[in-house]
Amino acid sequence: MAPSVLAADLGQLRSEMEGVDGHVEMFHLDVMDGLYVPNLTFGAPVIEKVRPAVDAFFDCHLMVSQPLGLFEALAKAGADHVTLHTDVCPDPTEAGTLARRLGMGFGLALSPAVGPGVVRPHLVGLDMVVVMSVEPGFGGQVFMPETLSKVETIRRWIDEEGLETALQIDGGITPETAPLAAAAGADVFVAGTAIFARPDPVEAVRMLRSAISSATSPAGGG
Ligand code: DX5
Ligand code: ZN
Repeated sequence: MAPSVLAADLGQLRSEMEGVDGHVEMFHLDVMDGLYVPNLTFGAPVIEKVRPAVDAFFDCHLMVSQPLGLFEALAKAGADHVTLHTDVCPDPTEAGTLARRLGMGFGLALSPAVGPGVVRPHLVGLDMVVVMSVEPGFGGQVFMPETLSKVETIRRWIDEEGLETALQIDGGITPETAPLAAAAGADVFVAGTAIFARPDPVEAVRMLRSAISSATSPAGGG
């Protein structure tokens, strides 16, 4: 589970994260610059302030037009991983090398209109592939089921090549849609609204986990 803090009360980001830390594998941090997407969030200065209070892995989803220029500051701030969109990452090998030199993992994200083929030649060098199941930019949007076939395709390639690349689904994940993504082969689930907009975010994480396991356990029929 990767709660997206975009849906948290950003005015009290630290305590919002502390509230679910220990119950999740990572936090998903949507860094937006107001250019690549029409929304502006936060960057290294904010991440640096919350990092000491939180144990979980920091997965940074960069929705910015010049992502490489942010790597160093994000690494210093305590980011564990950066994911870049394919259309602003002309050289994934170079970007991955730079991320790893700074001690971070590296992934590529596919917006809904981008086909899976762009990531195929780079799979072996990726820690994570992110299939966006909404248009990047805003939380609280409706899951796009047509992105599931992309998850299935990329899952097949990862398995055929014997890779350990994580396959993340991002956008509109709820207890209803998470099992669909799990059945298609996703193994990291970003959820913002379905966690932080709930009265009890820890309970919301539990509900998402149980929905996912019912889709993936042999008895679940998923
Ligand atoms: C959208 C972001 C998502 C978003 C997900 O651009 O990449 O991570 O926060 O939010 P929900 O879960 O509300 O769709
Ligand atoms: Zn995201």
